[in-house]
Amino acid sequence: MQIDIRNLSFAYGRKTIINGLSHSINPGDYLVIRGKNGTGKSTLIKCLLGINSVKNGMLFLDNTDINTFKYWTKFGYVSQDFDNFNYEFPLTVEELLKFSSIKKTQPQDYLKLLDQMGVLDILNQNINSLSGGQLQRVFIVRAMLNTPEVLVLDEPTASVDKQNTEFFYKTIDAYNKQGITIILITHTDSLEALNYTHTLTMNLDLSVDIEQKTPEKEAKLL
Ligand SMILES: Nc1ncnc2c1ncn2[C@@H]1O[C@H](COP(=O)(O)OP(=O)(O)O)[C@@H](O)[C@H]1O
Ligand SMILES: [Mg+2]
Repeated sequence: MQIDIRNLSFAYGRKTIINGLSHSINPGDYLVIRGKNGTGKSTLIKCLLGINSVKNGMLFLDNTDINTFKYWTKFGYVSQDFDNFNYEFPLTVEELLKFSSIKKTQPQDYLKLLDQMGVLDILNQNINSLSGGQLQRVFIVRAMLNTPEVLVLDEPTASVDKQNTEFFYKTIDAYNKQGITIILITHTDSLEALNYTHTLTMNLDLSVDIEQKTPEKEAKLL
């Protein structure tokens, strides 16, 4: 998907969070959105996903104004407050995945994705019994089941330990190599382990720095 942000501003009431941001995200890009807590990272992606409605500036998704865009299933999104939903009823991981895909799900689809995420062993566990990190990975599998063009992950490793974080980033790389656009938000992780193409850093003074990874940085990573 082609994403074009043109002079976007956004405020909650009188509090401006985004001030005149322009950037294009091309198909296959891997964009890391960085910045301290409260700089507006989650706010920005909620604008991109149509959750926050944009009144100042323009947002185009595949050259269509966001206000008339219809193909929301092209996005896979795991929000920062992914565990804020009600799951009081007993549901296993498999049941959750079976019921939440928009298309008919074959077991091999989610089994493969669970395996890639390193959580195949929890298939029959009740979702209430999972750790935060496990639940987060199940939600990423759920987002991937609909074969999104763009995968948006808001602080996906917040509750994942170091070893699993490395494994997790390798999986995200593999998805990116398949051509899926990745938008990854992080406020803590160093970028060393990430095979991103661009960074967008949000600062508390509302300025934004956008960088494309240079060949020198690429070489350092190898
Ligand atoms: N729904 C909301 N209503 C009012 N203020 C909000 C809302 N959501 C976030 N904010 C405020 O907007 C600022 C940016 O928040 P957020 O986008 O969540 O930052 P980040 O994801 O970078 O930590 C913060 O000061 C936060 O308190
Ligand atoms: Mg956030």
